[in-house]
Amino acid sequence: MRAEKCLNIGDLERCARQRLPQPLFDYIQGGSDDEITLAANVTGFDRYALLPRYLRDVRDVDSSVAVLGSRLAWPLYLAPTGMTQMFHRDGEMAVARAAARSGVGYTLSTMGTTSIEDIGAVPDLPKMFQMYLLNDDSLNRAMVDRCRASAFDALCITVDCITAGNRERDIRSGLSVPPRLNLQSLGQFARRPEWCLNYLRGGAFRLPNIGDGNGDGNGGGDISTLASYFAQKMESNISWQHVEAIARQWQGPLAIKGLQSAQDATMAVEAGATAVIVSNHGGRQLDGSAASIDLLPAIADAIGGKAEIILDGGIRRGSHMVKALALGATACMTGRPYLYGLSAFGAAGVDRSLAILHSEFERTMALVGCRSVADLKAGTAMQGGAGARCNGGFHTPKDQPAPANSFVTVLGRRPVQSLNARENVPLSENPSR
Ligand SMILES: Cc1cc2nc3c(=O)[nH]c(=O)nc-3n(C[C@H](O)[C@H](O)[C@H](O)COP(=O)(O)O)c2cc1C
Repeated sequence: MRAEKCLNIGDLERCARQRLPQPLFDYIQGGSDDEITLAANVTGFDRYALLPRYLRDVRDVDSSVAVLGSRLAWPLYLAPTGMTQMFHRDGEMAVARAAARSGVGYTLSTMGTTSIEDIGAVPDLPKMFQMYLLNDDSLNRAMVDRCRASAFDALCITVDCITAGNRERDIRSGLSVPPRLNLQSLGQFARRPEWCLNYLRGGAFRLPNIGDGNGDGNGGGDISTLASYFAQKMESNISWQHVEAIARQWQGPLAIKGLQSAQDATMAVEAGATAVIVSNHGGRQLDGSAASIDLLPAIADAIGGKAEIILDGGIRRGSHMVKALALGATACMTGRPYLYGLSAFGAAGVDRSLAILHSEFERTMALVGCRSVADLKAGTAMQGGAGARCNGGFHTPKDQPAPANSFVTVLGRRPVQSLNARENVPLSENPSR
């Protein structure tokens, strides 16, 4: 199948599965433990129903939005993903250039295989760098300095990786970085000769973003040595003081990625964050936590407009983005969909994944009767009354019907807000099961 023949993200996913060696596809696809949160991220959107308004002029939908100090043509940031060249040798460069072509933002990972400086040189691209904090402040400061020198627009700090998630697919497949062949994996890689040729063509890849790119453990060394160096250097005790220190040094748009509780979101804003990325790392870290979309309304209420909110996890359709914005997000973030496209078709596949989501998003906007993201977010075009965020999400139709001007309503679930107040919830009560 060619990229243009893929009608939706599910088609791209099937093509990626056919092209990648099984251990690599599993690395993208998998989550932690029983993968309950991973699945809930996607199915969670189905609990919210869109409520369209008709007889409105939606001939010209403007889906642009300002977020993290940049103007996006439509409200999406591509999520940071480590080791991207493992899936296709064109790696982060192909993804970043596709983001620029589509007018959306791109986030480069600390574990990226392309340097801050190379991504910095991509023109017309809103750029964010994702930091994993290291237990050496001088290395953290060096990363921030490099981002400033390369004119990055924003930083984000991922806080949900204080220890590695239990990803059993990777343990079973014996995946190593870089991929090493043993008797078990030889057959799986041999069945994907096209990927093998593409991989060999690129030669050894690097992790050029760790630290200053020059000293010990710099990006020039062997990648497996670097990966274990990095594991030792990861800060396992990230504190709000760390966040404050980065905010002071950076003095620009700063997001905290991986927050799930309304209390943490409020503390992030107090510590100097200008945005909160509501995320469970795509279900790859703590299994048994709620679907990202279910957490959004409580966090939006707690933050009360004092910071931007980015919804990350589970987006597979443009309508999912519409629901996220209607429930209080400023923009969305997505990981696997563009990785499927990249893995299957290189740059053309990333373009295709973005074209699919963009057209689905704008079509859904028109079909619900919204001409702009501001209409959708605040519900201001909805003949007055409260915004969609307040109307959807919390109330089951039985408890309290959603007001008539709502864009989304929730289908028969108990409130998520109470879960947030209690923080740790027995799995049996988890709404995402
Ligand atoms: C292969 C892969 C690698 C990832 N690497 C990182 C990373 O280096 N840093 C990070 O903050 N998140 C990382 N993530 C999580 C993504 O940024 C994002 O939170 C997740 O993919 C969102 O879920 P989605 O894939 O359903 O969109 C990774 C995700 C995947 C699938």
